[in-house]
Amino acid sequence: MLRATGLTRRYGGVTALSEVDIVLRPGEVHAVVGENGAGKSTLVKILSGVERPDAGVLPRIAGVALVAQELTVFPDLTVAENLFPLAPPRRGLLVSRRRMASLAAPVLAELGLDVPLDARAGTMSLADQQLLEIGRALLRNPAVLILDEPTSALPADAVARLMGVLRRLVARGVAVLYVSHFLEEVLRIATRITVLRDGRSVLTGVETATVDLDGVVAAMLGDRALAPAAERPPPRDGPPALVVDGLFSVAPGEIVGLAGLQGAGHLEVLSALSGRGSGPGTPRSPRAAVRAGVAFVPSDRKRYGLMLDQPVWRNTSAAAWLGAGLGSWWLRRETHRAAARRHIERLRIRGGPDDLVTTLSGGNQQKVVFAKWLEADPRLLVLDDPTRGVDVGARAEMHAVIAALAAEGKPVVLASTDLAELCELCDRVLVFQRGRVVARLTRSELSERALSVAMNAGT
Ligand SMILES: Nc1ncnc2c1ncn2[C@@H]1O[C@H](COP(=O)(O)OP(=O)(O)OP(=O)(O)O)[C@@H](O)[C@H]1O
Ligand SMILES: [Mg+2]
Repeated sequence: MLRATGLTRRYGGVTALSEVDIVLRPGEVHAVVGENGAGKSTLVKILSGVERPDAGVLPRIAGVALVAQELTVFPDLTVAENLFPLAPPRRGLLVSRRRMASLAAPVLAELGLDVPLDARAGTMSLADQQLLEIGRALLRNPAVLILDEPTSALPADAVARLMGVLRRLVARGVAVLYVSHFLEEVLRIATRITVLRDGRSVLTGVETATVDLDGVVAAMLGDRALAPAAERPPPRDGPPALVVDGLFSVAPGEIVGLAGLQGAGHLEVLSALSGRGSGPGTPRSPRAAVRAGVAFVPSDRKRYGLMLDQPVWRNTSAAAWLGAGLGSWWLRRETHRAAARRHIERLRIRGGPDDLVTTLSGGNQQKVVFAKWLEADPRLLVLDDPTRGVDVGARAEMHAVIAALAAEGKPVVLASTDLAELCELCDRVLVFQRGRVVARLTRSELSERALSVAMNAGT
């Protein structure tokens, strides 16, 4: 379906992609994995014609649809308008709503996206927006479907449905190129895999049957090692560090997970704690929350987390400035740069202190959000999918940092669509349904399966 050779792309002094070959056959899922900044998005942008290569051979191909890593949903348009952005089905000169609905309904049903066609996309959850983005690509009936981290904000049931959709597509002869950081997921769905490291391909179209998880991780990381799973002292006794009246409390040094299906209410708790909701005794605004020492790492980094057109160092110092007041504005720029450099080193951010955040890859932007809160030395951590889009190496590093902050006695509240993340980090997980806590799982009871059962019980 597609054969490209020697693809090379530079951005200024950075070589994002260097002499990469890729072949896509009909009826296969071909996975592309690699660390943050390895060049995956650059590759898929070139294959789908969004970007041009500086060198290499790429025959022009019709029928390629891309689900981009950074959502391109138009928040002010309706679901229907988002699904047919260029050529809405018409009857004569008029856009036919009937036909739109009859085309869209089966696709949305297949994806499990249950929203009215006239709903505004911007009011939907991140997961639903991600599904909408996928729906739009499917409606183009592509011969080649390229998905760049389509599941980074999706809950487990939606991931399972998407896998079903992909299996049906390849059975019809469609070629799928699949980029993801969820390596188990990748090895299950893909028949072949390409691993990129620093812009080069270190495994090229290898059959997944011949590799295992450790082999893929080793290829991704080269000679670097994964951070070991953090050992942590048990939470301290004594008065709780945080009380959410009527719901739960968090001991000093405790990591409490909040889980639930979409709309269960657990995310509203995060909003309230971070000054984005309402409730007696909660911070009145995001700014008030920062002043009170609340760090909020959101899953939607573009919306809440970053100043995209500013350099990395300004972003990493931003929360510390807000929290500490004006005095620290006068700290020398060099001090902030040095702090940014420390985070770049520790979290393996691919970029320098003076690079604009827009030029970083998605996962590296997420690391900058995280670094910003480390720098602020918060009293409470509120984390919503903190490692969304982050590679396995940096994910382990971020987990170690979270565990270390807890070990210092800081309370942590964590929500994640990645159930493995909850199991790895939490002392306790509270499962929500309809705004109430319906189950509490302690460390010894925690497993992805147990969580999934509790989240879905009675629904
Ligand atoms: N517009 C740009 N300007 C400057 N540099 C860029 C630009 N786009 C990408 N880069 C650089 O190219 C490299 C590869 O980025 P790319 O987005 O392809 O990585 P990725 O493998 O998709 O990472 P992630 O897993 O974080 O999404 C990165 O170092 C990034 O900083
Ligand atoms: Mg990317």
